[in-house]
Amino acid sequence: MRKQIVAGNWKMNNDTLETAALLDALNAAALPEDVRVMVAPAFTQLTQAKTLTENTAIEVAAQNMNAAASGAYTGEISAKMLLGIDIQTVILGHSERRAYYNETDASLAEKVTTAIENGLEIIFCFGEELQERKDNVHFDVIERQLRVALFDLPASAWKNIILAYEPVWAIGTGETASPEQAQEIHAFIRQLIAKQYDAALAENTSILYGGSVKPNNATEIFSMQDVDGGLIGGAALNADDFLKIVMAF
Ligand code: PGA
Repeated sequence: MRKQIVAGNWKMNNDTLETAALLDALNAAALPEDVRVMVAPAFTQLTQAKTLTENTAIEVAAQNMNAAASGAYTGEISAKMLLGIDIQTVILGHSERRAYYNETDASLAEKVTTAIENGLEIIFCFGEELQERKDNVHFDVIERQLRVALFDLPASAWKNIILAYEPVWAIGTGETASPEQAQEIHAFIRQLIAKQYDAALAENTSILYGGSVKPNNATEIFSMQDVDGGLIGGAALNADDFLKIVMAF
């Protein structure tokens, strides 16, 4: 059975004091046992977040990783470095990284390969831009993003893949995909996986929705059959909001 997951992508927010305050508040809450709850702080706060969530159910993920094992890549972080501080999950392919740091389907395929080789779990983000939806090519875009970065993986690697459909036009804009729009895409993705691999693998893959998920829309979005949770940006910076979303299933 696939897992329900709520992951908070903190982006470039939360310094040491803010990380402590937010995690204290999350630690004080009784979390549902059937939902995986994750936070993805900046690299500098990963160790702090690991320490503060020790012996809790909250998991800590990284926001990015380099494809190379090591070497002359100033400012970059390797899979081994993440594993060295016991980080088991990494977000790859976020639309902000695609847009501002030139990540492409091809470069993401390399990161995916490295992450899988190292036994890391991946939250793989993808989704169409506004113009692509207007031009009615969003299904093609999504299929290409998944095919190039993920569909060469062996079936055995998919136990380490969490998908996060994030339409770019809904990220940080306050505009969400309607629950029906999210469901339509999620069902399409599951069909693609079933065709490429098999139905059981597709059924077991968690597909999260991301893009302006808030306490007031989470229940409706999460109630969709093929939506298995959310990747949360802005609302993950506020403990009350994030906890309401965690409880929204
Ligand atoms: P948002 O961000 O919830 O602020 O729209 C989502 C994301 O970027 O993952």
